[in-house]
Formats: sequence, C-alpha cells, structure tokens
Amino acid sequence: MQITSTIHNIGVNDRAVDLFEGQYRVPNGMAYNSYLILDEKVAVLDTVEQNFAGPWLENLAAALGGKTPDYLIVQHMEPDHSGSIQAFMSTYPQAVLVASAKAFPMLANFFGEDFAHRRQAVGEGDRLSLGGRELTFITAPMVHWPEVIMTYSPADRVLFSADAFGKFGALDADEEWDCEARRYYFGIVGKYGPQVQAVLKKAAALDIGTLCPLHGPTLTGDLSHYLSLYDCWSSYGVESEGVVIAFTSVYGHTRIAAQLLAQELEKRGCPKVVLHDLARTDLAEAVEDAFRYGKLVLATTTYNADIFPFMREFIQHLKERNFQNRTVGLVENGSWAPMAAKGMRSLLEGGKNLRFTETTVRLLSAVNEETRRQLAALAEELMQ
Ligand code: FEO
Repeated sequence: MQITSTIHNIGVNDRAVDLFEGQYRVPNGMAYNSYLILDEKVAVLDTVEQNFAGPWLENLAAALGGKTPDYLIVQHMEPDHSGSIQAFMSTYPQAVLVASAKAFPMLANFFGEDFAHRRQAVGEGDRLSLGGRELTFITAPMVHWPEVIMTYSPADRVLFSADAFGKFGALDADEEWDCEARRYYFGIVGKYGPQVQAVLKKAAALDIGTLCPLHGPTLTGDLSHYLSLYDCWSSYGVESEGVVIAFTSVYGHTRIAAQLLAQELEKRGCPKVVLHDLARTDLAEAVEDAFRYGKLVLATTTYNADIFPFMREFIQHLKERNFQNRTVGLVENGSWAPMAAKGMRSLLEGGKNLRFTETTVRLLSAVNEETRRQLAALAEELMQ
C-alpha cells in the first residue's frame, strides 16, 4: 500500500489472532504495519509478527522493485513488530539494524543474538540520512515499552509513531477509528499517560501531515481530532459526559438495582448511561468506558467476605492504569454482612483525584422501597 510515491506500508493483516497480546479480543483482527522508504538508501521500519514473516518478506520484495534494504529501523521490540527481525536480517545480510541502545539486550533475549557487528544505536534527535531525506529519531520510552523510538521525516511531513495512534482491527475492517483506538489506548498504554504527554509535546514542535502507526490506518489530513483525543486520554481527562454503571450480579438483584439506577439517571436527563455486566462484557470495553466518561458507579455483591471476582478484576485493571479524576458511586449487595462497598473503596484507595459520592446504596439481598430511595438519591447526586 502506497503512502507517498516513496513510502509504502508493506505490513500484513492478521485475521487469525484470537487474543491480541494474549488478552484483547480482536473480532476484526489486527494490522501489523511495516514501512518501506525508497531513497538513495533504502530503509524498512519494523517487521511483523513471526507467523507472517513469509508474506511480509514477499510484500517487501515486491515494493523494493529490485532494490536492497540498507537499514532496518526497529522502533519497538514487542514481538508483534520484532517477530520477523531474524528472517529479515538473514534475507538481507548487508542491512544495518538501527534501534535505541535499550533494544539491544532485548534482541539478545528474544533471538539469542544482538547483531553487534551490524547495528547502529540512535537516541533523541539523532539523524540518519537516506540521501534525499534525513530521518530524525524521537525517543518515546514506555509508549509502550522502554526502548521505543519514533521516526520523523521532515521532507515527507510524516511521523512514524510506533504503537501510538494505533488501533485494534485489520486494515480491511470497516469500523470507526475512535472506538477501537480508545480501547487499544487504555488497554495497552493507559498506565503511561505522562510518557504519552511527553511525546505529544515533542510532536507539537514538528510539522506533521501524516501519522504512520504500527497498527491501524495511516492518519492524514486534519490530525487535530486524533491529537486532541490522545491529549485527553493521556491526561486522564473526561472525553464524554455520562455515567458508566459497571456491575456484577449473582441472581439478578444487583442487576435490577443497576438498571433502576440507569432509569433514574435517564429520567434526570443524563446525556449517556452505559451499563456493563462485568461477567459478560469485554472487560477492555468496560475499562475504555470508565476512562471515557467522567462518572463511574460500581455495583457488586459481597462474596467470601469481600467482593465478587469480576469486580475485583475490573478495579484492578483501572488501578494499574492510574484511574483518576473521576466521581465514583458504590452499590453493594449482601444477604447477611454486606462488605462490598468497603472492599471496592479500599481497592480504589490512593487513586488521584477520585471523589466518592456521599450516597452509597445498600441492598440486603433484593431491591425494596428503601433501595429505590437510595438509588434515586445516588442518581440525584451524580447529576449535580
Ligand atoms: Fe504493537 Fe507494543 O506492540
């Protein structure tokens, strides 16, 4: 796929992957992008997952048109991009591997060799001339591994942005960018907001017309939509007004409470209410929504004198991604000794700028008039 007359995406679509990175559902598959820059010197940016080495090398050979690569620029060592490095290095034995110094021990760990005799380390601001254009390297530690670099070509106004601005889904999937880019961002990079902010500051100083990420489509034209979403996500801002109600339910009573709360919110004109049954939803969707909206209600049952397992896992996902700047309401259920609100609150403790509602709803087994009153009070408070 041609990006400009001299830049090609020679990547592959993976429609066979069941769980990306061992945990994310990708019903529309995954794209592993890889780029070829044809100049006096020829550079390849990143490889693809090892199962696709064959088709990727074919794409490369076809786009090369008889030329030979001089450089393999390794922006990221995670195996979805580094998996075919060995295949490339043995197919093109004269090529030099260009990467950050932090990538070299990873090469040794993954492949048992670090190509010490044919490699070049680059760091912040280093340049690589291809003849007609000069590439500049930008370090992007923890976006999303420590060794990550991005590559900027001023002549093309292109930023090769590694994992940043990527999304789930193969390139032939017909789906909007925002939703699957958001689920990807919070699933994979969500913890590293400050590091993403640091890279956005560097990018703001560049003249960028096109973003070439390692997953998902090439982004071009007005980039402000993508840049402002990344700014919002990485600063843990509120993207959309609304309330997410995440619940678990054993026999349906807590579910009824969650649904009643949704009705109370809608009655009061809440712009959006999103319900997630944590035992059945894609957890990454629930995580994405918790970070998208400004208010979150957690509703769960007391279980083994603590909280229900799916709720525990959900809160753990939020915590490890530095969940912050949100209003949180709690709904607990317990048939003899309700403990769930205390358990949820203590799991969230220490979260930056988390504000708990004054109302905590308590069910003693099933919804009754008192529960309805408490749910209405919680809705009222959330709408203030
Ligand atoms: Fe797409 Fe962090 O690998």
